[in-house]
Amino acid sequence: MSASGLHVAPAGGLTGELAVPGDKSISHRAVLLGAISSGPVQVRGFGASADTLSTVSAVEALGVEVEHAGETELVVHGAGLRGLRAPGGPIDVGNAGTLIRLLPGILAGQSGSFELTGDESIRSRPMERIAEPLRQMGVDIETDGGRPPLRIAATGRTEPIAYELPVASAQVKSCVLLAGLFAGRGVTEVHEPIPTRDHTERMLRAAGVPVDRSPGRVAVSPATELRLGDVDVPGDFSSAAPFIVAATVLSGSNLTLRDVGVNPTRTGLLTVMERMGARVGVFRRRLESGEPVADVEPELVPLLVDELPLVALLACFAHGVTTIRGAAELRVKESDRIAATADALNAVGGHVEPLEDGFRIRGVPTRLRGGKVDAAGDHRVAMLGAVAGVCSQEGVEVHGASVLGVSFPDFADRLAAVSA
Ligand code: S3P
Repeated sequence: MSASGLHVAPAGGLTGELAVPGDKSISHRAVLLGAISSGPVQVRGFGASADTLSTVSAVEALGVEVEHAGETELVVHGAGLRGLRAPGGPIDVGNAGTLIRLLPGILAGQSGSFELTGDESIRSRPMERIAEPLRQMGVDIETDGGRPPLRIAATGRTEPIAYELPVASAQVKSCVLLAGLFAGRGVTEVHEPIPTRDHTERMLRAAGVPVDRSPGRVAVSPATELRLGDVDVPGDFSSAAPFIVAATVLSGSNLTLRDVGVNPTRTGLLTVMERMGARVGVFRRRLESGEPVADVEPELVPLLVDELPLVALLACFAHGVTTIRGAAELRVKESDRIAATADALNAVGGHVEPLEDGFRIRGVPTRLRGGKVDAAGDHRVAMLGAVAGVCSQEGVEVHGASVLGVSFPDFADRLAAVSA
């Protein structure tokens, strides 16, 4: 990759075998819950990236020792449920949205004053969505006009609430559940009209916390102690997704992705691809380009929220028109992902109309032309540009591709290695 950008050449197919980095959502949670566990937590398959290393630095700043036991292995020496210490200065979360939205739930149960801030993109992202329920739980938390920095003056105690999520967000759900661990009395409930990823619930259960789940509702009881034990992190479905999509579009592909997490709250992409006519095997995958055409409706959106730019790319190759609605959340991701995706795909010959809450895409079942894509400071847009490159006639130049380090530092090398 040169300083100016990443050049991705057209490929006839993706072939061979590939393991993607450990799941980012689960890696964040393993370090955060490890930090408040009693005793050491071994995390195997940790997905080391700029984002997850921000979480490691954050817990270190809070007084937790983290041993790097190997490239993908950490030992987090948990300080106990209320054992975090206020650092002297602000905690810098870098680009990590999951960190800045989950950590306040944990800090609510500590004692002292905490400030959280991050890079320019983080400082433009909405935070009232977590501050508002935390205030209902009695937490003293301030935002700067709804955005970071966040300031929390914690007393170690929260009040239980029953909270109806106004946006389908696993980050908000997780923050409330984590704060519920510290509720002096009573159960904290989160109601979610649309299911979102459930890694926090699963990990809390694994740590011995009673978590009660029924459709649309999760409830957590106050905890006295977390005992997380060891965590094996599966491969990140969102990092596998660009390869799945490229291998689907390119008919000469025969690609196996090993050890990919297939938690159903993450694999909405496969559902949509099947509807679009692609054949998807969960074990040995040979994916093929298919017939028309899906509408992606709002209920599915949280199950593939980080993959929607790739669905837009797939739709560029489908016969007919694909509509994606109910995805306004994409406007407040690491970039305005509706604008950035439409710009990227249109710059390489796609026909993508940005809508307020999604896209309308006219498919033409031939290769994209190719051209130049701006990553817009967003790792998922950089991956989108690269996938467009292998599926193009002339190749794609991705500007600002160093942002890939946020979730998948050697993405470009891995893509090159399987491109035939
Ligand atoms: C995440 C939840 C999603 C997702 C993000 C990771 C998580 O965000 O987009 O990349 O780990 O909980 P929202 O909760 O804002 O939808």
